[in-house]
Amino acid sequence: MPVDAATMEPDARPRFRPSVPRPLREQPGLFAFLKAVRANPITTWLDEHFVEPVVAREGAMGRVTVVSDPALIRYLFVENAANYRKDDLQRRVLAPGLGNGLLTAEGEEWKLQRRTLAPIFSARHVLGFAAPMNEAGAKIGRRLARRDGTTVDVALETTRVTLDVLERTIFTEGLSSDPDALGRAITRFLESVGPVDPMDVFGVPAFVPRIGRLRARPAIRFFEEVVNALIERRRAQLDGGTAPSDLLTLLLQAQDPETGKGLSDFEVRANIVTFIAAGHETTANALTWALYCLSQDHDSRAHVEREVDSVQGDVFDADALPYTKAVMEETMRLFPPVPFMSRQAIAEDRIGRIKIPQGSLIMVAPYVLHRHRTLWDEPETFMPERFLPENRTAVQRFSYLPFGAGPRVCIGQSFSLQEAVIVLAHMIRRIRFTLPADHAPVTPLQRVTLRPEHGLRMRVEQRA
Ligand code: HEM
Repeated sequence: MPVDAATMEPDARPRFRPSVPRPLREQPGLFAFLKAVRANPITTWLDEHFVEPVVAREGAMGRVTVVSDPALIRYLFVENAANYRKDDLQRRVLAPGLGNGLLTAEGEEWKLQRRTLAPIFSARHVLGFAAPMNEAGAKIGRRLARRDGTTVDVALETTRVTLDVLERTIFTEGLSSDPDALGRAITRFLESVGPVDPMDVFGVPAFVPRIGRLRARPAIRFFEEVVNALIERRRAQLDGGTAPSDLLTLLLQAQDPETGKGLSDFEVRANIVTFIAAGHETTANALTWALYCLSQDHDSRAHVEREVDSVQGDVFDADALPYTKAVMEETMRLFPPVPFMSRQAIAEDRIGRIKIPQGSLIMVAPYVLHRHRTLWDEPETFMPERFLPENRTAVQRFSYLPFGAGPRVCIGQSFSLQEAVIVLAHMIRRIRFTLPADHAPVTPLQRVTLRPEHGLRMRVEQRA
């Protein structure tokens, strides 16, 4: 007889296990592998990646070592981080659009930028951004409430709200006459860098044009023009003492604490583009997956609803919403917006018992690590309780890496977690989202980030 989940005791109810591509039993041939990498790289993980601490294999990209052992990851990202640079593949894919912003810079240039930019994302500044995040969250909540009874494109809505947050925090005075044009340009840019180009895999020199990349050129030029105009206007406002206090002002005023030197206009622009590119789709996808998981796990949804309903007024403090925050963290465990990170060994090394040849590629894949069968109880099950304050200490630091770790850890980590919690709270306060029965299967597709392969359309119902 079928089990009626609604009438079961909460603890006895089966919890939600999202469906994801099944890991492969064995390595496919080269052609099939490249085809799969281009179509959806997360379909190329092997069963052994989810059980072994280290898997080293020779492949199309030479020797690749996938590390999923927390102690060895700590070694790689912290203890011997100086021996592992961002690899050429990542730079080839991202650098054409991002210039030499913090995400793609290396060596001394990266060090200088990181020192200069770190204070901008201090706890004090991030807390200061809670107000514009609440404004953007309340706005999307109201907008969706007006769509009561209809079906909305959730991925589009979450992208809108994260762009809105970036616009309110980077440029208080607004971006341009047409903010949607910026949104479209960003989407076009990310779409064209999204699929991994086989020419990048094989290290074909950058001067050989990639078709996908050519399509991104107008979008990149559009960014440059809009942002250049804003920088020029803001410099004038700073001279006149009328500049608003936002990320753009902070960037223009930032100084390297060691040398007192500021950033050039070129570096400011590269970092604005970097913050937008690194910060909007990642956070939007985390929110999209969270809404999906909550629509499937009614106990968690009821818990979040109770938590946000208990707050008076329309302003949320992310630290006062532990369950909502746990939902975001658990969502990023199952669907890490950055599903893998890669590094290249500068000199030969050893990771545990494994030899790492000079120049070889090392991968740490949050998608694999977060579902690793030796590190998590019921790794495939959505259980936000793992991240409640009383259980949080049981989660090992190097088993959970949605934001990376070590010197190159995400600079926007607290910013985006605070944003996601506040925006989710506003959405859940006003709306109940349900997945239509005829929706295509909701499974992850890896582009630069991890998104639902067939999009996510959900029915919105205004809550009382
Ligand atoms: C849920 C949202 C986000 C996720 C999951 C995420 C994830 C990550 C990860 C995994 C890295 C490290 C990559 C590596 O080590 O190879 C990273 C780096 C970075 N992130 Fe984020 N990020 C998010 C939001 C943001 C936001 C909102 C911003 C900026 C406003 C941002 C800016 C950056 C920058 C500049 C770097 C490069 C840091 C460096 O190399 O020094 N990210 N992010």
